[in-house]
Amino acid sequence: MNLNQKNLPTIKVATPRYNRNGLKNAIVHIGLGNFHRAHQAFFLDTLISKGLSSSGIFAINLIADPFPLAKIAAEQDCLYTLITKGGQDEADVRVIGSILGYVNATADKEAAIARIAKGETSMVSLTITEKGYFRDTAAGDVDWNHPAVKHDLQHPEDPQSIYGFLAAALLRRSANGGGRLSIVSCDNFPSNGKVLKESLLSFCAQVYPALSPWIEDNVSFPSSMVDRITPNANAAVIAEVEQNYGIADKWPVCCEDFIQWVLEDDFRLPAAAGFDPKLLAAAGVQLVRDVEPYELMKMRLLNGGHSALAYLSYLMGYTDVADAASDTLMGQFLRRHYMEEVTPTVPPVPGIDLAEYKDTLIKRFANRAIGDAVLRLAEDGSQKIPNFMLKPLAAAIQGGGAYKAIALALAGWARFLEGTDEAGKPIPLKDPEGQAVARAAKIAREEPEAFLKAAGVHGIGEGEFGKLAGVFKQHLENIHRQGTRKALEEFVCQAASPLI
Ligand code: NAI
Repeated sequence: MNLNQKNLPTIKVATPRYNRNGLKNAIVHIGLGNFHRAHQAFFLDTLISKGLSSSGIFAINLIADPFPLAKIAAEQDCLYTLITKGGQDEADVRVIGSILGYVNATADKEAAIARIAKGETSMVSLTITEKGYFRDTAAGDVDWNHPAVKHDLQHPEDPQSIYGFLAAALLRRSANGGGRLSIVSCDNFPSNGKVLKESLLSFCAQVYPALSPWIEDNVSFPSSMVDRITPNANAAVIAEVEQNYGIADKWPVCCEDFIQWVLEDDFRLPAAAGFDPKLLAAAGVQLVRDVEPYELMKMRLLNGGHSALAYLSYLMGYTDVADAASDTLMGQFLRRHYMEEVTPTVPPVPGIDLAEYKDTLIKRFANRAIGDAVLRLAEDGSQKIPNFMLKPLAAAIQGGGAYKAIALALAGWARFLEGTDEAGKPIPLKDPEGQAVARAAKIAREEPEAFLKAAGVHGIGEGEFGKLAGVFKQHLENIHRQGTRKALEEFVCQAASPLI
């Protein structure tokens, strides 16, 4: 049975029972990938099903899609199957109906800009990956030399980057009296709302200086922490949906059963806005005054833990995340060493027992049912490692804490970036922005300091930096001399005695 609006009554799993034609598009989402469909669109579907929201989502992608998404979305009326799987439990399968329309901006820029500019839109959310923000993490600023950003500074009327699109849309909105708006970044970097706001205002100061005060007065940028492990959808998920549930869906998505969205309560929307974000609380979203402790916990323990697992376990021959996390050696390394070194750098988080949180993470990583790939976690390391691993590393060093396990994970990344595995086979590196650090990795054994600087280590004194370089080099040598498994074994055994 092809998945589309007409066929919904004959589909055997839970489907939207609400009138999709009667919904508005008060929410625009930029970055229609897997995660949005497993997370924000799921929350919205829940709200609409409960009769609490009359708004759906209009989705936009700013870069070309790797498959004919526009065609699939049109054929399927933007419907898709979401399969949610816990470790042991039965899968929860439902068709999600909260996405109402889609446009790819590379095919129709005007439609994308007009959507955001429209007065009907009250909230814009983003999942455009870390690299979509073109940040130079070490400089703490936008990478103004990035080709897309440079292009937009010269041709703001013909945008390519998120800043160019938002600026063009907000310029039009301000001229049309489109009213207040909230823009919510749901990507994995600290203070995502604040950073997006600062970046956009710096961009506007250069192209549309008169727009900045309007943005200050009319647009809020709540920060948010989002969590739900969502692997890349693949042919196996398509086959599973067809074979087990009789649904011919070219666009299903599979994710874990855990879900969390902690959202800064800073919307400043008028009462008449098309969507009231406070409603999200009724679907389980936590609206809080300060998101930062939640962000740091999630980025440093979950994302950092994922990165630590990814590079070392790929070198140990693993391709599946659950297999790697179920390896006792890896599990011990992550839980007893890596996460324990990181923990003192995480502030107290309201309502969370960190020990329990870490135990749950190991179980979530080992969720075999979702089929997550080690290489997905390894992607875009240059964009992730600075926030996920280097910031807690610097904080651990500044606080006089242990950091040997973090340095070992970093050595795993350097070894991975050398580009061949332990059998000499090429590693499919996927990190377009990471060429400089990959070059530094090739000579990291001779010049560990240069690698650490290229990776983005900063904010620690010279003496401590030299000490870190020594620890890192020793780990990298061990990985080369004995292989990753032996190096990890030796570390876990020796670490039973006190560390640094
Ligand atoms: P995906 O690969 O399915 O989708 C990536 C999305 O980012 C696409 O919509 C693509 O058009 C957009 N994009 C990529 N580069 C861009 C650029 N330069 N400019 C504008 N848009 C760009 O990935 P997925 O799973 O949807 O994840 C996206 C982001 O969501 C992650 O990078 C992360 O920040 C966040 N996230 C993902 C989680 C997951 O488990 N997949 C969990 C928590 C957060």
